[in-house]
Amino acid sequence: MTVLITGGAGYIGSHTCAELLGMNREVIAVDNFCNSSAAAIEKINKITGKKLTFYEADLRDEAAMDKIFSAHKIDAVIHFAALKAVGVSVAEPITYYDNNINSTLTLCKTMKKHNVNSVIFSSSASTYDGNSPMPLTEDSPQKAINPYAWSKIMCERILRDACFADKSLSVVALRYFNVVGAHPSGLIGDTPSGIPNNIMPFIAQTAKGLHKELKVFGNDYPTPDGTCTRDYIHVMDLVRGHIMSIDYAAENSGFEVFNLGRGEGISVLEVIQTFERVNGLKLPYSIGDRRPGDNPESYAGTAKAAEMLGFRAEKTLEDMCRDMWNYQKGSCN
Ligand code: UD1
Repeated sequence: MTVLITGGAGYIGSHTCAELLGMNREVIAVDNFCNSSAAAIEKINKITGKKLTFYEADLRDEAAMDKIFSAHKIDAVIHFAALKAVGVSVAEPITYYDNNINSTLTLCKTMKKHNVNSVIFSSSASTYDGNSPMPLTEDSPQKAINPYAWSKIMCERILRDACFADKSLSVVALRYFNVVGAHPSGLIGDTPSGIPNNIMPFIAQTAKGLHKELKVFGNDYPTPDGTCTRDYIHVMDLVRGHIMSIDYAAENSGFEVFNLGRGEGISVLEVIQTFERVNGLKLPYSIGDRRPGDNPESYAGTAKAAEMLGFRAEKTLEDMCRDMWNYQKGSCN
């Protein structure tokens, strides 16, 4: 089975390429390097001792996509390629809608033309209405609060409608919770450009001395220690969820959604304390104001993915903190 990975040089895409290649699966990757670089491809090759078949192309370029699909007999696609900075999406909504939606539409058209029926779509827990009761299950209402999350809801809708119209199609939309951690080799990981918004890269960079301190965004929430809780999942667990989904999609047509999370809320203070303990260091931090838009808690209902995919996250918060630091120590940012 040959799998095309869009956004193959990105954070989750690069880990997926490395894992699938390591399993001797046929992998082709495409990326336009808008938020990644060729260095990721070299590192995938180094980790696996193999040469990844790679194309530099924008998914919205129909001719380029047609060329890739003509050159290979693709059986399934994992569609990661997207812009993902929440704050930037608010400032530049048209750029976000153009990129995230048009790339998905071009992909769908090209898949149809070349008779490719299986796609795993990278969706997000940020598509849920955060005011819903916890845990967030696949049936919880969706309501976005920024263009990034809206673009994910819209792509889910497009894929759902495509499945309704074409019964041979098979789509699995995976709603990720908070993806953190890095490859155990320490060679690939999350490399956000500029100052990271997300907590784990910010913590790792602070530990390296790149920031004076971490600001904890509020400690007066109605949670056990007053700081927000989130459902952190290790990127290698997340990758496993995608591989299980490829196998699921090969056997089941139609549109299906699964949460990928651990199913437990971890507070900001617990993340800090665990990072300090497993890595034997002290992290400078102080308590600051709440960040607008943050919900007090978020965690996944995991029963559906467990029952239908057989997926259970295995890596612990300790693994996530250790691998995050292992990667950060060796990286140049
Ligand atoms: C954020 C996005 C979400 C996106 C997800 C991707 C917002 C409001 N939400 O989610 O749409 O899908 O990233 O991973 O931007 N925190 C601090 N100090 C920091 C950074 C974060 O205390 O410097 C806290 C936050 O208040 C939050 C937790 O850490 O409670 C996690 O924050 P973050 O990593 O940004 O993820 P989310 O807010 O869950």
